[in-house]
This record gives sequence, structure tokens and C-alpha cells, in this order.
Amino acid sequence: MQTRKILTLVGGISSGSLNQKLFQVARDLSPQGYELIGDDIQKLPFFSQDLENDPPDIVAAFKNKIRESDAILFITPEYNRSIPGVLKNAIDWGSRPYGQNLWKRKPAATMGASIGNIGTYGAQHHLQDVMAYLDLCTMAQPEFYLNGSKAFNESGKLIDQNVKKLISNFLTSFVNWIEFIAPEDAKSPGLHKSEGLEDSPFTH
Ligand code: FNR
Repeated sequence: MQTRKILTLVGGISSGSLNQKLFQVARDLSPQGYELIGDDIQKLPFFSQDLENDPPDIVAAFKNKIRESDAILFITPEYNRSIPGVLKNAIDWGSRPYGQNLWKRKPAATMGASIGNIGTYGAQHHLQDVMAYLDLCTMAQPEFYLNGSKAFNESGKLIDQNVKKLISNFLTSFVNWIEFIAPEDAKSPGLHKSEGLEDSPFTH
């Protein structure tokens, strides 16, 4: 069986980003048969409709990465009760030009870490609204909200083993969700490969 790819987009881009640390830990815990693949979304230019039909190479490469991925994982900080602009910018690129929404029918999930007690609840729910509009198939449970202020040490190592278990359980659930929505051995195209299909039924 080929390793299946989970494109993981992280909205935190600062050098000490908690969400990047969360990504590193999650990547190391990738379930068997799956790998979490990142992307430097901060290098993408700002989305403009002037560029959408003939995007710069870096955007074209990003779009190919979406096409080739089996699922999408967003790991986001909370900025003013929403997601950072850098993440929204990447999402907008993948959604255009009109009629060529690359997110459509991909299995997806959200995680997030903040320094606040509600651990990105506001950001993830804002994001899930966008994901519903883009026709991503978002896993509803389990949810993952992390107050990351005490979870990692200075060098980014996870020091709370309960959190490690939560991350592991979350990823196992996500893989089950991916297999449910878009099974590897589906005889029909599978929702994740249904680009261009407007009314494709669920295939599980
Ligand atoms: C924040 N932060 C924040 N935290 C929160 O729980 N709710 C919020 O609405 C906000 N808003 C917000 C806006 C802006 C512009 C910044 C810079 C920060 C704090 C935020 O959770 C904290 O900085 C995280 O550590 C950011 O994630 P990374 O960069 O560490 O991954």
C-alpha cells in the first residue's frame, strides 16, 4: 500500500510557534501508512484575482500539493477569534479560479494551540465555516483544543505526555475518518478524487 499524504497547513509562522511545535509532534506520530506533509505557506504571495488564471510557480506547486494529497489537516493559532491571514491566503489560493476548488471533498480536520484557555476554539470554528463552504469533509469529533503554554519546553519538546496521547488518538480518529470518506481501495473514484464532480454521492 502506498503511503497516503496528509497535507498539513500550519497558521503559526513565528520562530517559536506553538502550532509549529504541535505539527512536529504530530508528524512524528503519523499513523502507519500515512505521512504528514507541511508547506511554507508564508512564502505564497497574497491572493489576487489578477493572478488566479496564471499563478506564479510557487502557487502552482502548492496547488499540485493539494491535488496530490489524500487529506488536509489545518493546525491553527487563534488571531482575534479567527485564523491568521497567512492561512486564509493559502485557502483562498486553493479555492480558485471559480469552479476549480481543489479542497472539494477532501477529508479534513482541524487542530490548534494557543496560550489562552479556550485553546483556539474560536479560530477552529471560524475555519470550519470556511471549510463547509469549500466542501471539505471535516471530521467533527474528536475536537482538539490545546492550551500550549505549558505543554512544550524551550526546545519545543512536548513535556506533557497526556497531550501526546491526545494527539495520537486524534490522528488515529482522523485516519479512520479518511478511510471512511475516501477509502484507498474504493472502486468508485472516491470523494477525494472527485474534482469536477458536482453531485457525487458518498462512496463508503
Ligand atoms: C493572538 N492570540 C490570541 N489567543 C487567543 O486565545 N485568542 C485570540 O483571539 C488571540 N488573538 C491574537 C491575535 C494576534 C494578532 C496575536 C499575535 C496573538 C495569542 C496567540 O494564541 C498566541 O500568540 C499563540 O502562541 C500564537 O500561535 P503560534 O504563533 O505560537 O503558533
